[in-house]
Amino acid sequence: MYVCVCNAVTEDDVRGCLASGACSTAKDVKEACGMKPGCGSCTKRLYGLVSEYKTASELADAMTGGPLPLEVVTPAPADPWTVQTGRSGPERDTGKQTAA
Ligand code: FES
Repeated sequence: MYVCVCNAVTEDDVRGCLASGACSTAKDVKEACGMKPGCGSCTKRLYGLVSEYKTASELADAMTGGPLPLEVVTPAPADPWTVQTGRSGPERDTGKQTAA
């Protein structure tokens, strides 16, 4: 459903901005969604959505002990053999005999 018809901003757009963490106020949402000044009839609804989101987020944090910290994920090595031996793949013993 549209929050701002003048700028074609939907409720999902607003909630997405808030959920991403990039926005925490109605002013932030306006900037992030590229909302230009228009008729102004969306202002009350926009502030209401931001307030609802903050309340729900604070309640969820209170019930769960707060947001979980982010963990650093180390990507897996491309070739575990190379990492362990320091040699590249063709030198490793593949079990095949080569003619001398
Ligand atoms: S509906 Fe948002 S400025 Fe008009």
